[in-house]
Amino acid sequence: MTNVYVHGYQPRENERLQDQAGTLVDLLHSDTSYAAGSLVLEAGCGVGAQTVTLAQRSPDAQFTSVDISAKSLAQARRTTDAAKLTNVQFQQADIFALPFAPESFDHVFVCFLLEHLSQPVEALMILNRLLKQGGTMTVIEGDHGSTYFHPDSSAARRAIQCQVELQRLAGGNALIGRQLYPLMVEAGLEAVRVMPRMVYVDSSRPDLVDGFTRKTFTAMIEGIREFAIEAGISDAQVFEEGIRDLHRTAEADGVFCYTFFKGVGKKISRAA
Ligand SMILES: C[S@@+](CC[C@H](N)C(=O)[O-])C[C@H]1O[C@@H](n2cnc3c(N)ncnc32)[C@H](O)[C@@H]1O
Repeated sequence: MTNVYVHGYQPRENERLQDQAGTLVDLLHSDTSYAAGSLVLEAGCGVGAQTVTLAQRSPDAQFTSVDISAKSLAQARRTTDAAKLTNVQFQQADIFALPFAPESFDHVFVCFLLEHLSQPVEALMILNRLLKQGGTMTVIEGDHGSTYFHPDSSAARRAIQCQVELQRLAGGNALIGRQLYPLMVEAGLEAVRVMPRMVYVDSSRPDLVDGFTRKTFTAMIEGIREFAIEAGISDAQVFEEGIRDLHRTAEADGVFCYTFFKGVGKKISRAA
C-alpha cells in the first residue's frame, strides 16, 4: 500500500505554501478585497498561507476559514495570531459536510483545494448554496500542464508528470486550472470570468527565481520524491535527473513559466 500524497500536509510543504503565498501575493490577490462588514468563507484554508493576505487586505470583513485538518488549522491560527489579525475565525470542517445554513456568506474564497477533490463540482455546488444572492465566489487553482522552461528537459517533465500521476491516484487533478470555467458554470455560478495569471521567471527577477522556481515549484516536485519512488512511478535516478534539470532553469540563463487560473463567479439575485 503506498502512502497517499496530499500536498499541504508535510512540514516542508507547509513552508512551501507560505513561500508560494508570499511570492505570489500581488499576482493572485491584487484584485481581491471585500467590503466592510462582509462575511467571507475561506474553504480549505490549510496552514493559513492565503488567509493572512485576505484578512489583511480586507481588515473590516469577517473571515470564517475552514479546513478538514486540525493540525493545519492549529498552524493557521498561530500564523494569524502572529500577524495580530482579529477578523478571522477558524473551524474544523469537511467541505462536504459544512455546518452552515444556506446563504450564510457574502463571499466564498477557494484556493488550491479543488485540485485535491474527486468531486470538485459537488464541492462548488455546496459552497454556492452557502452564498447569499448577489455574492461572489473566487477560485484559484494551478495547472501543472502549464509548466514550460528553458533549458527544456524531458527528465524534468517526467518528474512533474509524477506529481500529476500521484495526485490522480489520490483522487485529485493537478491539471484542474484549465477546467475552472466549465466547473464553475456547471456548479451554477453566473457571470464567470477566468483570468490566467502567468508567472514568468528569468534571472532579472531574482525574487521569483528563489521564491517561485526554487522554493515553490521545484520544492513541490522534490517533496514527492519518496511517494513517486514508492508508488513505482519513477526510479530514483531518473527523478534526481529531473530535479537537477528543474534547478538548472533557475540559473542565470534559465527561464521558468507557470500559469495559475483565477475564476470569479456570482450568485445572481433571483428575480423578485
Ligand atoms: C494545498 S492545501 C491549500 C491550502 C490553502 N488554501 C492555500 O492556498 O495555501 C489544500 C487544503 O485543502 C484541505 N482539504 C482537502 N479536502 C478537504 C475537505 N474535504 N474539506 C476541507 N478541507 C479539505 C486540506 O486539508 C489542505 O489544507
